[in-house]
Amino acid sequence: MAIRNIRIMGDEVLTKRCKEITTMTPRLKMLIEDMAETMYDANGVGLAACQVGVLKRIVVIDVSEEGNDLMVFINPEIIETDGEQEGYEGCLSVPDKSGWVKRPNRVVVKALNEDLQPFTLEGEGLLARAILHECEHLDGHLYVEHVEGGEQGLISNEKLRTEEE
Ligand code: NI
Repeated sequence: MAIRNIRIMGDEVLTKRCKEITTMTPRLKMLIEDMAETMYDANGVGLAACQVGVLKRIVVIDVSEEGNDLMVFINPEIIETDGEQEGYEGCLSVPDKSGWVKRPNRVVVKALNEDLQPFTLEGEGLLARAILHECEHLDGHLYVEHVEGGEQGLISNEKLRTEEE
């Protein structure tokens, strides 16, 4: 296992469409392990493969407080959304910043697990937000696109903490 270098906004790799996985290989298994380690190391709740420079449709998410509920999504597809939530959102590729984003409150996602077996999962609240955010990475999009004013509309996490106090 290894911690990989997280690509930062402005890096072209974050604007590209990731490719479907058709076969599982030891190399991809290692990538998934590294993605999880990289996400936990950076205190993130989700990471897409393109964020470590690999253009494959793989996402890891863990929204648990304890960091013991790793979810792996391969070739994920959002098949249903409803409701609405809004709040501050961040991204490991946009360090130390947050932006106000409106999203559906509930999603149903279809994906493959690490053995390429299909599963369907329903998520609400933070999990729904993370799934939508990470799936957008796979198509070359960043949450910043949803923020009013784009990059200019972001707020520094330091300022956000001060405002919350
Ligand atoms: Ni992100």
